[in-house]
Amino acid sequence: MSAVVIDGVAAARQLHAVLRGAVLDLVERGATPGLAVVLVGDDPASSVYVRNKVRRSVEAGLRSFHHRLPASTSESDILALILRLNAAEDVDGILVQLPLPSHIDAQKVTAAIDPAKDVDGFHPINVGNLSLGASALVACTPLGCMLLIKSVRTDLTGLSAVIVGRSNIVGKPLAQLLLRENCTVTIAHSKTEDLPSVCRRADILVAAVGRARFVRGDWIKPGAIVIDVGINRIERDGNQQLVGDVDFEGAHTVAGALTPVPGGVGPMTIACLLRNTIEAACRRRGVSSPLANGAD
Ligand code: GUN
Repeated sequence: MSAVVIDGVAAARQLHAVLRGAVLDLVERGATPGLAVVLVGDDPASSVYVRNKVRRSVEAGLRSFHHRLPASTSESDILALILRLNAAEDVDGILVQLPLPSHIDAQKVTAAIDPAKDVDGFHPINVGNLSLGASALVACTPLGCMLLIKSVRTDLTGLSAVIVGRSNIVGKPLAQLLLRENCTVTIAHSKTEDLPSVCRRADILVAAVGRARFVRGDWIKPGAIVIDVGINRIERDGNQQLVGDVDFEGAHTVAGALTPVPGGVGPMTIACLLRNTIEAACRRRGVSSPLANGAD
């Protein structure tokens, strides 16, 4: 068997087209969505992610506010900036790129963001509402994973889903989304016993551990949907290469469908950030969402 390769670039392009239309609609109604992105320090990977987020938001027609701060910025200065952005009328979404320098308490910063502008879905109110099954802004990577899973299978009822990785950004919120779809969900992690056999039970297997090619082909149930969230830079034959948390070649012959790295989950994460910003703008400004029938 050879897996269907789920094309995240094409899926994101389709979503961007819908989002662009939605933004035009809002601009016409005088409600142009605005996204503020805060980057502290000069971590090279974070700088690339932020550059892509800003570029995509401008392309989509959003107002973009980019705050680049030195690594030495104090926690109180960042909190003061967040308060200003919370109060800014033209800012609908606030994203503080993680990780933050070690002298800054990321949970404190996240909790300072107005939940209505928390387009990352990291604020405790949004996390809590997600787990209650209530309306919430949902973290972008898990949202992107769900859209990719649903692009190959719409009804997930009764399926066994295994997520390898228990992070607040991916593993935990994705578990909630899969539960909502009536999956039987397992979150596995570094202390899980006999991880290969746990993975082999999965109809949907999500790898989000941050370890290059960690999940091997023989850990995968034949026909499973495999979502690779990892982005790892490795050196191969003297060249830098991006690889996921799944051994793509090994998985390709076993899985039913599989996301590549690059070109899988990554582009969808950014598209979902813009989607959340548009949703946040509609809710804040009391206008009906033009996304209601197009971006799920
Ligand atoms: N760092 C890695 N992923 C993310 C993300 O989705 N949002 C933010 N703010 N920081 C990140």
